[in-house]
Amino acid sequence: MKLLSVAGARPNFMKIAALSAAVANYNLTKERLGSIHHIIVHTGQHYDKKMSQSFFDELEIPKPDINLEVGSGSHARQTAEIMMRFEHALLQEKPDVLLVVGDVNSTIACALVAAKIQYSSRGKRTRPLIVHVEAGLRSFDIAMPEEVNRVLTDSISDILFVTEPSAFTNLQREGVSEAKIHYVGNVMIDTLKRHLEQAKKSSILQSLGVSNKYALVTLHRPSNVDNLSVLRQIIDCLMSVSQEIPLVFPVHPRTKNKLIEFGLFNKLKQSKNITLSEPLGYLDFLNLITNATLVITDSGGIQEETTFLKIPCVTLRENTERPVTVKEGSNYLIGTKGSDVLETISLILSGQGKISQIPQYWDGMAGDRIISILAKEFFHTAERG
Ligand code: UD1
Repeated sequence: MKLLSVAGARPNFMKIAALSAAVANYNLTKERLGSIHHIIVHTGQHYDKKMSQSFFDELEIPKPDINLEVGSGSHARQTAEIMMRFEHALLQEKPDVLLVVGDVNSTIACALVAAKIQYSSRGKRTRPLIVHVEAGLRSFDIAMPEEVNRVLTDSISDILFVTEPSAFTNLQREGVSEAKIHYVGNVMIDTLKRHLEQAKKSSILQSLGVSNKYALVTLHRPSNVDNLSVLRQIIDCLMSVSQEIPLVFPVHPRTKNKLIEFGLFNKLKQSKNITLSEPLGYLDFLNLITNATLVITDSGGIQEETTFLKIPCVTLRENTERPVTVKEGSNYLIGTKGSDVLETISLILSGQGKISQIPQYWDGMAGDRIISILAKEFFHTAERG
């Protein structure tokens, strides 16, 4: 079975790491039904060393077989550029299975190419099976670029792997046949579990000169950072929070550009209680989550990582596509109103925060489940056909 996986942006890399490790495991097991040849295509959506290469190095992801080097651009330009370049790669490799993860522009761009491709092959298959890992998540906010990517990718996928019960229900409601949906757990947690001990050895706290009591901050959603008044409101809120607890804030390139454009960067930089840094590598960042008193974020993946680690997470968004992190986990969905954020943080600091649980199947085995299901589907169909 020839399996082609797509990695494009930072949150994809920890998922591809788990899946490539699972393929390697599968090829070594006695029970395997056949061997899997894994090819990785990097679209180049993220390209800075700190946003991309450092993750390949630390997570020991095999070097991508192909790099499309698309870089940044408007949504239309970036998506179109990926599609044009990926079509060549797909025709060159003709994989049996295309695997895409998450909800970034690279995810929908590559799935869409595969849905319409016609291999001129002698075999029966004229296009690859399309597999979406982390399917079914819905924020129900179609103004969010990722929501468009999720809905569209799911609608053209043949096999959908989900991380939490809400995703299963969402897909059923959209009319996806149950036979195509598999609840397997969370590949990002596979990678987290695998690297936790190593991450604990990072000396990032000393390098940044911060003590053990701090709140870790990340911010990059366009709805939070692209608009001056929203971003100013969030920065004012962070300044107030920093009076209660020191902040550590690794700044995403998109956010840094906007902070500079809106004249807000120096205010943050000069604040005594706020430590800014460049984007960090996986192990350093995981170390910072593990040691944090709480996390303040608008990221999707960090809501899940904090739930697994049982670290309180204050999410600066009105909705989440990952409701299990609120229902069962350590996540508080708060929005961006300063008073609400401060109130929640006081509750957490007073030790009265909620007791959280780890969702079912977030156990480090999701990648193995995925590869074993794919192998069964593929090799059994090949036998029959
Ligand atoms: C993308 C994803 C988002 C994900 C996020 C994680 C989409 C629609 N968005 O958003 O879902 O949560 O990645 O980071 O796919 N830039 C650099 N260096 C890089 C990459 C980006 O400087 O390596 C800067 C560029 O100015 C670029 C901007 O960041 O224009 C935004 O990058 P882009 O990939 O368009 O979106 P993200 O905001 O990173």
